[in-house]
Formats: sequence, C-alpha cells, structure tokens
Amino acid sequence: GTALLLYLFLKLHINMTQKRSLTRVFLSFTLLGLIYFSILPAAFAQEGDIPTDPAIISAGKSLFDGNCKTCHRVNAKLVGPALQDVYNRAPSIDWIVSFVNNSSKVIGSGDEYAVALYEEYNKTQMTAFPSFDRDQVMSILAYVKQETDNPTVAAGPAVDDPKTPGETGVASTYINAIMVGLIIVLVLILVVLILITTILQKYLNQRNDLDEDDKAIVNPTVSLDGLVKSKPFIFIVIFLFAAIAFKVVINNLYAVGVQIGYAPKQPIAFSHKIHAGQYEIDCNYCHTGVRKSKSANIPSPNICMNCHSAVKTESPEIQKIYAAIENDRPIEWVRVHNLPDLAYFNHSQHVEVGGIECQTCHGPIEEMDVVRQHSLLTMGWCIDCHRKTDVNTKGNEYYDKLVELHDEGSKEALKVEDIGGLECSKCHY
Ligand code: HEC
Ligand code: HEC
Ligand code: HEC
Ligand code: HEC
Ligand code: HEC
Ligand code: HEC
Repeated sequence: GTALLLYLFLKLHINMTQKRSLTRVFLSFTLLGLIYFSILPAAFAQEGDIPTDPAIISAGKSLFDGNCKTCHRVNAKLVGPALQDVYNRAPSIDWIVSFVNNSSKVIGSGDEYAVALYEEYNKTQMTAFPSFDRDQVMSILAYVKQETDNPTVAAGPAVDDPKTPGETGVASTYINAIMVGLIIVLVLILVVLILITTILQKYLNQRNDLDEDDKAIVNPTVSLDGLVKSKPFIFIVIFLFAAIAFKVVINNLYAVGVQIGYAPKQPIAFSHKIHAGQYEIDCNYCHTGVRKSKSANIPSPNICMNCHSAVKTESPEIQKIYAAIENDRPIEWVRVHNLPDLAYFNHSQHVEVGGIECQTCHGPIEEMDVVRQHSLLTMGWCIDCHRKTDVNTKGNEYYDKLVELHDEGSKEALKVEDIGGLECSKCHY
C-alpha cells in the first residue's frame, strides 16, 4: 500500500512540474500525509503490544538487572546494543523472543537482521536464555520501554553518557580556572592600585601647600621595605617554614610501614570508576574468589575479553590486553594491599560470613580511577574492628548455639572478640 501511494505521489509530482495546478498540489500533499500515516502505524504496532502495568515493569526490571545488565543498558551501548526502541527496530516481538532464547540459532538460520547485528558486534555471543517465555521477555521490554520514555534520573546520567567520568574532572578544572582567573584579576588590581598611589604620592610631594600632618599621611613611616626587613616579620616567616617542615616529617614518620593512600601506577589504565562505578559491574564478576575463598583474585585477561573483544578494541590500553593474551603472559598488576606473611586474612570469612561490604575496608573503590589503599591494615585496625563489630549471626545455624550461650551471660550483642577474634593464633600462622 505504501509503495503504491509513493508511486502515485512521485507520478503526480512529475506531472506537476509540467503543469502546476492547485488541486494537484493539494492532492500530492494529501498523498504525502497518507504515506506518513500508513508507515506510522506499522512502526508503532509492536510498541503498542508492550504492557505498561507497573507490576510487570518491575518484574522486567529485576529480570533485566539479573540477566542482561552485564552486557546491556537501555540508553547506552555496552557489550551489546542499547536496548531502547529495540521493539521498533527488530523484525518483530517474536523475533526478539527467539533471539533472547537462543541468539546463535537465529544467527545460524541466516536471518539477515541477526547476522548484520552479530557482525556489527564483532561476533560477540549473547548468552542464551532458553527458559525465558514470551511473557518474561515482554516484561523486560516493558521495563525497556519505560526507561526509554522516562529514564530514571538517578541511574540515567551515570549510564547514559560514557563521558560522565570526566565530568566531575571538568567541573573541578572549571573551578580551578575560575580561581586562577580571580587571582590574576586581584593581582592586576593590586598592581594598578600601587601604581596609582605612587603617582599620587609623587604628585602630592611636589605641591608645597601641604602642612606637616598631611605630609605624614602622604609619606607613611612604615614602608613595605621596612616591614619585610623587620625582626617580627622574619621571625614569623621562619616559624611558618619550620612548622610546615616539621609537619611533613611527622607525617612521613607516621607512614613508615603504613601504606595508607598507596596507589601505584598500573600497567594498564584500568579504572574501577568506569567499570564498577559507571557501568556497575559487580565486584564478584572480576574478583571471583572474594565470596568463596581466602583471596579475592585479580581477574585474568580472559575476563576482560568477555567485553573487550568488542568494546573499545582500538584503544591502546585495550591492545595491551590482547598483547598479554597473544604472548600468553599475565598482565603484571602492581599489588596494592599486602599483609606481611605472618598474618592470615580471609575474604570469604568477612564478606560472605561476616556480611561486611568491600567499601568498609577498601573505601569507595567504585569512585577510584586508580586503586589506593584506604585502611591502615595494621594489627590495631583488625583488632579494633573485631572489638566493635557484631557477628552476623542471622540465618547462620552455625552460630545458633553460641548466641544462645552468649545471651545467657550477657546483654550485649555477640561481638567478633567473643568468638575468638582477638586470639593470636586466629590471625597468625
Ligand atoms: C554476554 C553478554 C549479553 C547478555 C548477558 C545479554 N546480551 Fe543481548 N546482546 C548481546 C550482544 C553482543 C548483542 C548483539 C548481537 C550479537 O552479537 O549476537 C545482543 C543483542 C540483543 C538484542 C538485539 C538488539 C537489537 O539491536 O536488535 C536483544 C533484543 C537482546 N540482546 C536482549 C537481551 C536480553 C533481554 C538479555 C537478558 C535476558 C540479554 N540480551 C543479555 C550481548 C548480551
Ligand atoms: C572489570 C573487572 C573488575 C571489577 C568489576 C572490579 N575490579 Fe577490582 N580490580 C580489577 C583489576 C584488573 C585490578 C588490578 C588493577 C588495579 O589495581 O587497578 C583490581 C584491583 C582491585 C583492588 C586492589 C587489589 C590489590 O592489588 O591490592 C581492590 C581492593 C579491588 N579491586 C576491589 C574491587 C571492588 C570493591 C570492586 C567492586 C566495587 C571491584 N574491585 C570491581 C578488576 C575489577
Ligand atoms: C562487563 C564488561 C567489561 C569487562 C569485563 C571489562 N571491561 Fe573494560 N570497559 C568496559 C566498558 C563498557 C568500557 C567503557 C568504554 C567506553 O568508554 O566507551 C571499558 C573501558 C576500559 C578501558 C578504557 C579504555 C579507553 O581507552 O578508554 C580500559 C583500559 C579497560 N576497560 C580495561 C579493562 C580490563 C583490563 C579489564 C579486565 C580486568 C576489563 N576492562 C574488563 C567494559 C568491560
Ligand atoms: C574486613 C576487611 C575487608 C573486606 C570487607 C574486603 N577486603 Fe579485600 N582485602 C582486605 C585485606 C586486609 C587485603 C590484603 C590481604 C592480603 O594481603 O593477604 C585485601 C586484599 C584484596 C585484594 C587483593 C588480592 C587479594 O586477595 O589479596 C582484592 C582484589 C580485594 N581485597 C577485593 C575485595 C573485594 C572485591 C571485596 C568485597 C567483595 C573485599 N575485598 C572486601 C580487607 C578486606
Ligand atoms: C570491618 C571490620 C573488620 C575488620 C577491619 C577486620 N575484621 Fe576480621 N572479622 C570481622 C567479622 C565481622 C568477623 C566474623 C565473621 C564470622 O562470623 O565468622 C571476623 C572474623 C575474623 C576471623 C575469624 C575469627 C574466628 O574466630 O573465627 C579472622 C581470622 C579475622 N577476622 C582476621 C582479620 C584480620 C587479620 C584483619 C586485619 C587484616 C581483620 N580480620 C579485619 C570483621 C573485621
Ligand atoms: C585480628 C587479627 C590479629 C590478631 C588477633 C592478632 N594479630 Fe598480630 N598482627 C595482625 C596483623 C594483620 C599484623 C601485621 C600488621 C602490620 O604489618 O602492620 C600483625 C602483626 C603482629 C606483630 C608484628 C610483626 C611485625 O613485623 O611488626 C606481632 C609481634 C604480632 N602481630 C603478635 C600478635 C600477638 C602476640 C597476638 C595475640 C595477643 C596477635 N598478634 C593477635 C593481626 C592480628
């Protein structure tokens, strides 16, 4: 139908150039309007089927967060395409359902749209979700549609715009620029004022109708030169200098053996602020051991490749990952946190059993471009927390008997020290 209308429109136009008539112009534009409205419903037919029920949207959000978020955002490209408007661009809703169920089957069938997409994303394999039925996919689409139409404000700017990490930097350089500008203006004003006073002084000194009092005001006895050479002034300067030097020395002495703030330069400019912050990739995704074992693990290059086989492939920093894999050599990350060998620390005990957030010990890692040591990591630091922190006994049968015994003898909650958290042998081999 659209094609026919288009044909009529073109034919009319060609005729029109030969013989202009008002009715023809009118007719041709009516046709144009018809073409427009004949395409419009086709484009939005699929969107119309998508549910708008808040309960379905919220179910869709949790499905999306749990299964799709590692690779997709609604309003930004990540490993896979931005899903906004996908219901309008994909061949059909049924197509989307089968693609989510098993994308490689759809690509394998030679489907043109799927193959083109697969090529565009450097043949990155999307995970198959064979258990998802049509309703579940529809609920995800409902969430996608809601996020397309009114992006959540809180999550919006952080994920929408890949440039946000620089923005705070831009803001602070902006402020710095303003400060520098202000200082320059102030210095200029000062120079101009000094010039004016010296000129005025010279001029006034040339006049002879001034009495002694006026002269005293024009030529003050305290000159700047005198001030700089005066004893109190020299004393104050020396004192300030000594105080600053003293403070620096003391700070450095305190820091002997303590590496708080230690932030070595890493071989690849990997940023937690981008990965864990902006793209909200879960810590466990990379630090796979952190909930299961003593040590948190630094991810191998293969984990990076889950995304970087397709993301930012041209970046020189990413090329370093490819080089490491090609040469079969690990990336030589510089260790930031390091306890001496005599101490034993176990991550799963603290994170999984104790329920402590990474940030309690490591600080706001998701805001750091370069990881730095946030806590003291001294014995005093461990002990202090063991004295203050309640044991996370909820839902842990292992503690039931202990809690019962403890509650008979004490009104206070069970602390780590009560389960032996201060015993030397717990932390020392
Ligand atoms: C491992 C990463 C990954 C996960 C997880 C993932 N996808 Fe994808 N998705 C992709 C990639 C990559 C593409 C691009 C096509 C390709 O390379 O196969 C894609 C394409 C799509 C498309 C087609 C987009 C378009 O522009 O037409 C849809 C729809 C889609 N994914 C939905 C989902 C849904 C829904 C989920 C969660 C249930 C999900 N994906 C989970 C990686 C992923
Ligand atoms: C995309 C992968 C990835 C994610 C997600 C990630 N990290 Fe990392 N993490 C790394 C890599 C790679 C290093 C080593 C390079 C470095 O220190 O920056 C590292 C280093 C660290 C270190 C310092 C290790 C040392 O040498 O002492 C800490 C602590 C850390 N991550 C905590 C976290 C926390 C907390 C989160 C979640 C908020 C997180 N990471 C999320 C990849 C990741
Ligand atoms: C779950 C997906 C994912 C994983 C896994 C991942 N990255 Fe990334 N990475 C991204 C995204 C998305 C960006 C931002 C790309 C952009 O700015 O357009 C990025 C950006 C980067 C950048 C900045 C590139 C540049 O030039 O701006 C570096 C470097 C980087 N990643 C290194 C790593 C390393 C090393 C690992 C493995 C420890 C890793 N990434 C794992 C998704 C991932
Ligand atoms: C109770 C404090 C504490 C918590 C909570 C904690 N860490 Fe650590 N983390 C440490 C200490 C201490 C070290 C140094 C361990 C060592 O040198 O043996 C460390 C080291 C690391 C390292 C370097 C590699 C390693 O295993 O030694 C990574 C990566 C790391 N932590 C990630 C995490 C992540 C991710 C979380 C949250 C899931 C987390 N940490 C929670 C205290 C903590
Ligand atoms: C933020 C608070 C916190 C910090 C800091 C902390 N711990 Fe713990 N630790 C806990 C909690 C809570 C538990 C109890 C976990 C459980 O229920 O088993 C615990 C348990 C332990 C245990 C097992 C104790 C037992 O009796 O089973 C050891 C060993 C331990 N921590 C070592 C360390 C060391 C070593 C450090 C310092 C490098 C440290 N912890 C720092 C909170 C902390
Ligand atoms: C909660 C864990 C924990 C407990 C309990 C603990 N320590 Fe420590 N201890 C540490 C850590 C961690 C270090 C390393 C700190 C550092 O490097 O500053 C350390 C360091 C030390 C050192 C210093 C070694 C050096 O090279 O400076 C000595 C000695 C020591 N502990 C003895 C003890 C004795 C004795 C006890 C029992 C009364 C004890 N510790 C109980 C965690 C603990």
